[in-house]
Amino acid sequence: MDNMNRIEVKEALRLEISNNLVTLKGWVKTKRGSKNVSFIALNDGSTLNNIQIVAEHNISEDTLKLINTGASISVTGKLVQSKGSGQSVEVLAESIDVLGIADPDEYPLQPKKHSLEFLREKAHLRFRTNTFGAVFRIRHAMTYAIHNFFNQKGFSNIHTPIITGSDCEGAGEMFAVSTLDKVNTPLTEQGDVDYSKDFFGKETNLTVSGQLEAEMAALALGKVYTFGPTFRAENSNTSRHLAEFWMIEPEVAFADLNENMSLAQDMLQYLCSYALDNCKDDIAFLDKRLQEEEKHKKKEERQEMGLIEKLKFVVENDFERISYTEAYDILRNSKPNKKKKFQYLIEEWGADFQSEHERYLVEKKFKKPVIITDYPKDIKAFYMRMNDDGKTVRAMDVLFPGIGEIIGGSQREERLDVLKERMKEMDIPEDELWWYIDSRNFGTVPHSGYGLGFERLVLFVTGMGNIRDVIPFPRTPNNADF
Ligand code: 4AD
Ligand code: MG
Repeated sequence: MDNMNRIEVKEALRLEISNNLVTLKGWVKTKRGSKNVSFIALNDGSTLNNIQIVAEHNISEDTLKLINTGASISVTGKLVQSKGSGQSVEVLAESIDVLGIADPDEYPLQPKKHSLEFLREKAHLRFRTNTFGAVFRIRHAMTYAIHNFFNQKGFSNIHTPIITGSDCEGAGEMFAVSTLDKVNTPLTEQGDVDYSKDFFGKETNLTVSGQLEAEMAALALGKVYTFGPTFRAENSNTSRHLAEFWMIEPEVAFADLNENMSLAQDMLQYLCSYALDNCKDDIAFLDKRLQEEEKHKKKEERQEMGLIEKLKFVVENDFERISYTEAYDILRNSKPNKKKKFQYLIEEWGADFQSEHERYLVEKKFKKPVIITDYPKDIKAFYMRMNDDGKTVRAMDVLFPGIGEIIGGSQREERLDVLKERMKEMDIPEDELWWYIDSRNFGTVPHSGYGLGFERLVLFVTGMGNIRDVIPFPRTPNNADF
């Protein structure tokens, strides 16, 4: 069989009926029918929608027996008017080749609803379900839209290293990269691991962020962004954390925090509106799916808005901008704090907010995305620009409904002396970051940037509830299968 007349399901569903023969290839979703005629729902991933294949007597009994859910087939036939509802055309099969069988007693994805937990254990096959097909088509659309957004604005995409000798966030939650013998590890005279014998002649790790290198590029190219994998060995088994996730990090020379906030809002609004315009079928499907899920929840846990509504809401409303201190005051005087309903009560100024606090601000108080700025310096990274009060830094966190923190960023400390002072205070080794410090020595300028957690964005745009379900093969504590 040649591929000459092969068309994809998405295209076939848009065509008019015709006497020309077409060939479609894909995987069988369901087969039903009677002695005289079989109806096969075929999907090839080009769209959420299936095309119906009608197989009559001319298709042999033996072939039909092999056509079970999960099998791959190639069908040639004519596009005819569909008699069934919900579709305009169907294929009247003239011939069917079975490309790969799927034993119905063993194929785990039967045409019924499977739990997401079950499907996580079948991550190699879950792409075949409607839900994951929709999620990963949207994930792709978001990737494309991100590059599009920055390209239109004149940014250059920079590939920053994945193996690094420095700890950007200073949180020390890194995965070691080493080729040293684990049994007879070379040691120094003091008994420490002798990294001078390691592959790079020094200690190296998987990066937690491309920011520091992106800053170097921004200080020449002006506007840059990274889009790459990042790794964190934090042992947090939540529905918002992965050990391997993708991050988008724009960095802009001559921009202050206000411009940084505007860029973040523009980007998130562009992405939500891109999804609404370009992923209609998939979003509508996930919207319905979410409504079903919500029905099974307790009333007080239900989300007020559907998926489409939520996306439109982000597109149409300015994000609220408040300082940490303002947020702290609101939270301290809030009902759940006074009634001791928060698990972590807001008492002293300076403590980090927990997700219950972030959710209160976004979902109860402001009912829209919130950007919190000017956090206490002790809970933020060394590179954030110090404010005149000497207590807070020019940080920003963007908080989203149902997600919490989707973006973290800041204006950067561009003043050499202040930067060195902060590094000393926070025990950041100067010799590791000599090149970062050096950039403040030569033509330093105010600049700002942020990091968008890509999977948290995809969570929001798909309305899924667990971050493990928006990345093809999730890496979390005790889980690196596939
Ligand atoms: O707030 P974070 O740690 O900021 C940085 O890494 C900065 N260097 C970014 C910058 O200014 N260029 O991480 C940024 C975002 C978070 O807001 C969150 O969306 C996501 O990355 N993130 C995670 N996503 C999934 N799993 C994890 N373990 C994540 N940790 C952070
Ligand atoms: Mg953060």
